[in-house]
Amino acid sequence: MGLFDEFKMRGVRIPNRIVVSPMSQYASKDGFANDWHFAHLSRFALGGAGLIFTEATAVEAQGRRTHGDLGLWQDDQIDELKRIVHFIKSEGAVAGIQLGHAGRKASERRPWDGETPVDDTDIAERDEAPWPTLGPSAIPYAGGWHIPEEMTRADIERVKYAFRDAAARAASAGFEVIEVYAAHGFLLHQFYSPIANVRLDDYGGSFENRVRLCLEVADSIRLVWPEERALIFRISATDWVDGGWEVEESIELARLLKARGVDAIDCSIGGIGGRGRPRRMTLEEGFQVPFAERIRHESDIATVAVGMIWSADFADRVVQEGRADLVAIARELLADPNWPLKAMGSLGIEREPFENWKPAFGWWLNKRERLVRKLGLR
Ligand SMILES: Cc1cc2nc3c(=O)[nH]c(=O)nc-3n(C[C@H](O)[C@H](O)[C@H](O)COP(=O)(O)O)c2cc1C
Repeated sequence: MGLFDEFKMRGVRIPNRIVVSPMSQYASKDGFANDWHFAHLSRFALGGAGLIFTEATAVEAQGRRTHGDLGLWQDDQIDELKRIVHFIKSEGAVAGIQLGHAGRKASERRPWDGETPVDDTDIAERDEAPWPTLGPSAIPYAGGWHIPEEMTRADIERVKYAFRDAAARAASAGFEVIEVYAAHGFLLHQFYSPIANVRLDDYGGSFENRVRLCLEVADSIRLVWPEERALIFRISATDWVDGGWEVEESIELARLLKARGVDAIDCSIGGIGGRGRPRRMTLEEGFQVPFAERIRHESDIATVAVGMIWSADFADRVVQEGRADLVAIARELLADPNWPLKAMGSLGIEREPFENWKPAFGWWLNKRERLVRKLGLR
């Protein structure tokens, strides 16, 4: 099995193992998708990726990270997404949506405006007001951040149903895979990490209590999400700080999620914030792959590896060696949406140059290639 073998999850056939990792564009107004999202995501369908995820899509307005986040908390947000899904499918790829809630990391400025909390100065500068945030406990992400309101049981119920309702809307938009965003310090991660959760009720304290919301969100999505479509979770496999969430807990969480109808775990790390000093980590290509590998083997569930993967050869080996089932790529695909098609060339999958490119591109490129070769121009 290699990078260009099909992967099947329930009734979903993903033509290859390359996943477009969710990438927030901060380009929405009031949560609506627009032409930017269409162009951004369509490029990857033309470029040969197998499974294309939208960016983090908020299940309620309060759960947006920034004013520019995509959302699916109301029915009229479905239509534009439907158009995007239709195009992705018509080009032979699978469309997935990442559903999330930012919790205490909501009401944040876009990266290029500082990635700091929105305050009243943003009203004058961008006509964007701050809004109150929620979290498992009234602990801010970092000094100077909004202090979240500790969620009541009613808030927890509402958020759970917001995930369910957004999943139903995602189904009617035609998405075939949902990824629940339970990583990078956003709401569900805030619940399972002891760094952000000091609750004394059924949702805090023990491991069982801290993962409860994740499991209930999986259940509530599965109530409305068609049986033949896939559900995956993106988690932070470790907080990478002392006193935080550890990979052994991720292995157990993955087992519990699998039993609730979750088909794969997308294994990222970090993002919880707080005062703990991050442990040392060697940054290198595929540095997070060992987490996907451990969870795959020890939880017996399919995994997605992600993080600093940029060479076709490396990505192919991750799949060949059984370290992960799928490989998600973000920045390298931003740099080159045709990366998957080029990877087919460099891995020797093609019999003819450009044979897998859409003919509107590939026919011409192949013709030029033959001419250039014949004339010995390069
Ligand atoms: C522009 C941009 C936006 C991102 N937005 C999201 C997001 O909405 N949800 C998410 O889970 N990760 C998000 N990420 C993280 C990526 O999905 C990915 O995990 C990370 O960039 C590491 O992969 P890479 O080294 O291939 O870029 C974002 C990354 C980038 C570069």
